[in-house]
Amino acid sequence: MNHFTALADVPDLALLLERAAECKRTPNAWSSLGRGRTLGMVFFNPSLRTRVSTHRAATLLGMDVVSMSPGSDTWLLETRDGVVMDGAAAEHIREAAAVLGRYVDILGIRSFAQLTNRDEDYAETILERFVACAGVPVISLESATRHPLQSLADMLTIEHFKRTSRPRVVLSWAPHPKALPQAVPNSFAEWAIAMGYELVITHPPGYELDERFTAGATITHDQDAAFDGADFVYAKNWSSYHDYGKILCQDMRWQITPEKMARTRNAYFMHCLPIRRNMIASDAVLDSPSSIIIEQAANRVPAAQAVLRTILEAQ
Ligand code: CP
Repeated sequence: MNHFTALADVPDLALLLERAAECKRTPNAWSSLGRGRTLGMVFFNPSLRTRVSTHRAATLLGMDVVSMSPGSDTWLLETRDGVVMDGAAAEHIREAAAVLGRYVDILGIRSFAQLTNRDEDYAETILERFVACAGVPVISLESATRHPLQSLADMLTIEHFKRTSRPRVVLSWAPHPKALPQAVPNSFAEWAIAMGYELVITHPPGYELDERFTAGATITHDQDAAFDGADFVYAKNWSSYHDYGKILCQDMRWQITPEKMARTRNAYFMHCLPIRRNMIASDAVLDSPSSIIIEQAANRVPAAQAVLRTILEAQ
């Protein structure tokens, strides 16, 4: 594995999951693998889990880590080609990516969707520019359309908690006051389908995701029916893909409540975090024994460690 920007970069998903499980069991077993190597992390958007868990994973492997936020602690970057740079951006992404590639051995990039132009977001302009110009392996720390480090941690979590070989996993849209990208649900659907789970996606009309990510899933507007017999409920808000970036619904009846969880087969509750309490899910769900959101977040460390370990071993 060279880059880690999407599921398609993973040659053997079962092997990567086994490596993540190994990293969870024995996190200090590869403490000299990354000695003398540096991970650079570029955050165009805020982060708590991804920033800290990936940093922690790199240091467990003996790597040095440098993080930066363009426009805050490094120069604001221009991403368009052929423009006269007489605005706020002092540096072009072409030079920034190429220079960083001379300083670090692996580069992580967080760059969210702008939610104004679907074609531009789904072209992954910023992530792909780093892949093209950096000359070192690039890992996605969440891009416009995917969050593969989150998905790997999610699959590790489901594999740990599942009670049947093919669990019924429900990805449920839930209300939120702001328009959010589709990266997490896209990625979760893509990975859950690849794992062979029974994936059911439920959302209000108009929130259909890009079919390239959901082919193979059951899709329904009936949240109650989706929850019947569920083994896992994964809650997430996203804005519309087809009416791109729009909020079409703020119906609080889509919030995840104990009454809805009662329809399931004692399902575990999952969310990638951060979560807005009593919007996406009620306090009673988040604080219940069925909530595994903290374990899920903890699994971000072995997931990132497995990815970095795999890339380092291939260098
Ligand atoms: N789940 C996740 O990626 O969290 P952060 O945005 O805090 O990194």
